[in-house]
Amino acid sequence: MDRSTYSRRRMDLAGVLRAGGGGVAVLPTAPERIRNRDTTYPYRHDSYFYYLSGFTEPDSWLVIDDQGHSTLFCRPKDPEREIWDGIRLGPDAAPGVLGVDAAFPVETLDERLPQLLANRPAVAFPFGLHPGLESRVEMWLSVLRAQERRGIGTPQTLRDLTPALDEMRLIKDEGELAVMRQAGRISAAAHLRAMQSSARWMRTPGEAPWREYHLEAELLHEFRRRGAQAPAYPSIVAAGANACVLHYAAGDTELKPGELCLIDAGCELDGYASDITRTFPVDGRFTTPQRELYDLVLAAQDAAVAATRPGARQRDAHHAAVRVLSEGMLALGLLNRDRHGSVDDVIEHAHYRQFYMHGTGHWIGMDVHDVGNYLQDDEAPVEQPDGLGGRVVKKPSRVLQPGMVVTLEPGLYVRPADGVPERYWNTGIRIEDDAVVTPGGCELITRDVPVQAEAIEALMRQA
Ligand code: GLY
Ligand code: MN
Ligand code: MN
Repeated sequence: MDRSTYSRRRMDLAGVLRAGGGGVAVLPTAPERIRNRDTTYPYRHDSYFYYLSGFTEPDSWLVIDDQGHSTLFCRPKDPEREIWDGIRLGPDAAPGVLGVDAAFPVETLDERLPQLLANRPAVAFPFGLHPGLESRVEMWLSVLRAQERRGIGTPQTLRDLTPALDEMRLIKDEGELAVMRQAGRISAAAHLRAMQSSARWMRTPGEAPWREYHLEAELLHEFRRRGAQAPAYPSIVAAGANACVLHYAAGDTELKPGELCLIDAGCELDGYASDITRTFPVDGRFTTPQRELYDLVLAAQDAAVAATRPGARQRDAHHAAVRVLSEGMLALGLLNRDRHGSVDDVIEHAHYRQFYMHGTGHWIGMDVHDVGNYLQDDEAPVEQPDGLGGRVVKKPSRVLQPGMVVTLEPGLYVRPADGVPERYWNTGIRIEDDAVVTPGGCELITRDVPVQAEAIEALMRQA
């Protein structure tokens, strides 16, 4: 994205500040984090900071006033440190490269911030995200307070910056969508590679066991080979019964013929996440019980896709998926009509939660579980199902608009239990795609990897 995109966002934020009575926004990026002793985790910038700056160096701050004047604080040039840690942009080059109006060494932050906040009505910063930030703001305010006799005004209002930025980030522009489509293509290629490597391995007699971490390596290989910087979240590679553990990570369980493998993995490309889940037979052929459950989850996803369009609500996809899954649970005997009643009873009392206990989707963008209000704030609260078998009074779910991006990810997770047909035990299936809301419905941007059972089998046969 070019620098004009970030300048426009800063001007938009200035407009929000003006509409709120004026003030100054202060935003740090993420800190570097220690992994152990003197080794840090791979650095990842703060998403809000990056959204407004396009800048990925640690130790940086952005200050934006209600006229759109922006000041960056960043690491100064330092030839000695740059030998060890890499080139720094530095404050002299920052205005030309990033389009900010001024830039200073980060060491001068505490000295300059009181001046930048002087005589302003409010200071806005992200609440609850950066430990110590509030006391830092307090410290700057105390410097101003001490100068009041000289006629200098201290901001009288502290505002949370996140609601305004969340609303901006919720609707993706064309540049963002282009990056997200490419992230989706890369992640799809990684899933294809993992499926095909599994099929090839199974056809090679006498090889050492093929384990979950082998497939994780195939995913990582494809992410990096195609230019993605990192996984957007820890890859889930779950063989057999492990797929019933929702937040399982890739471990060392052996992949066994006749079992399924669930992979939930997506890359991060240029600061944007993708999030795909596919479930495939390790040896390339679904068994009959696996296929019955698989086709049910796919039908639920089809219903969720059909429910995702402008004017619909974000939660409609979940309701649509739950209805299809609940009907299927009764038809397959996972639930029993005598015990659990009709489909409407299953839904009202949330009996489906024995096998489907998570939501059907979330916003996705810079963060895999992206920011954005899930409720329609300008509507009155209404009584509605709480999703746990009870009722709750709260605002209705958010109305979808073009440019929002959601995941659609129904699943079924069958653990051994009394009354549950044994042929389904220890089977976990999820199918997840990323959908851009378009004027006419939605566009699935992660479908370069197939979802139909026959298509998955064909692709594994061809491996
Ligand atoms: N991979 C995280 C999720 O599906 O929400
Ligand atoms: Mn997801
Ligand atoms: Mn996922």
